[in-house]
Amino acid sequence: MDLDAKIAELKAAFEKDAATVPAEQLKSRYLGREGRVRDLFVLLKSVPPEQKGAAGQKLNGIKAEFERRVEELGRTKAVAAAAGALDLTLPGRAPEFGRRHPIYSTWDAIGRVFMKLGFDVVYGPEIETEANNFEALNIPLDHPARDGFDTFYVEPPYLVRSHTSPVQIRTLRSRKPPIRVIAPGKVFRPDKPDAGHSPMFHQVEGLLVGPGITFAHLKGVLDLFAKSMWGPATSIRFRPSYFPFTEPSAEVDVSCFICGAKGCPVCKGSGWVEILGSGMVHPRVLENCGIDPEANTGFAFGMGVERIAMLKYGIPDIRRFTENHFAFLKQF
Ligand code: PHE
Repeated sequence: MDLDAKIAELKAAFEKDAATVPAEQLKSRYLGREGRVRDLFVLLKSVPPEQKGAAGQKLNGIKAEFERRVEELGRTKAVAAAAGALDLTLPGRAPEFGRRHPIYSTWDAIGRVFMKLGFDVVYGPEIETEANNFEALNIPLDHPARDGFDTFYVEPPYLVRSHTSPVQIRTLRSRKPPIRVIAPGKVFRPDKPDAGHSPMFHQVEGLLVGPGITFAHLKGVLDLFAKSMWGPATSIRFRPSYFPFTEPSAEVDVSCFICGAKGCPVCKGSGWVEILGSGMVHPRVLENCGIDPEANTGFAFGMGVERIAMLKYGIPDIRRFTENHFAFLKQF
């Protein structure tokens, strides 16, 4: 076989190996002291003297080419290793498991209590109309909550809802009594962020409407809710309050479940913590939605999920929920 054919054969073998064999091995296999290029140089001896010069040049050429290729391959591998692309000698990395965000696990816990009582879960949009967020809820134009300061406007008549109460309106218009729903969701208010305020937070709205519903039903449902969430020793109290869409209205406190109502920093020594606003649905709200207030009455409530989660887990600052610090989120 002549030298040219042998060189061509060697080149083909090298190309094949270059795809799979590591650079160092390739180097010793082809360029080493007992390598395959060397084997060809040995053949030079049998080449006629007048052809020796040209043959030697050819062999030096292939040697130089292989050296260049081996060096190139080594460099590519070093770059890949530096980029962490593929180092099969490293131990495997265990995947991190995702967890439920504390807001959503609190939301689930609240939902479970009301679902057991037969409440449906309904949702409304975060972009609402002034009509649903205010007018239909009997919040007049001159009410302070209508101030640009308390609501993010998109472009009139659209705004970003400042509470989940507009879902009451949507539900009263789309369902016939008896109505029994909770409506969880995000709400937005242009408050300066601090330990207790966040421009976005979560509420769960509750609404129950039907013939003969009274304040006693509201008390019964909320008492059961508090006992289910914080244990049978929990009690609740109602403080008279004002909301334009409920009459009468009340703010509801639960006995402090941190200190057992003895007084601690969470309840500021009072033994009670406020958890929600509530009341009997205002007759004008029912009328606005085409429901006869003579035939039906109802109650509504709205609670802040962050507040309940902060109390449940002892979280001192509402901003923790949205900072996405893994060390914080990992605890739940
Ligand atoms: N929407 C009220 C708020 O955000 C809470 C509320 C809901 C009060 C339903 C009464 C009835 O403060």
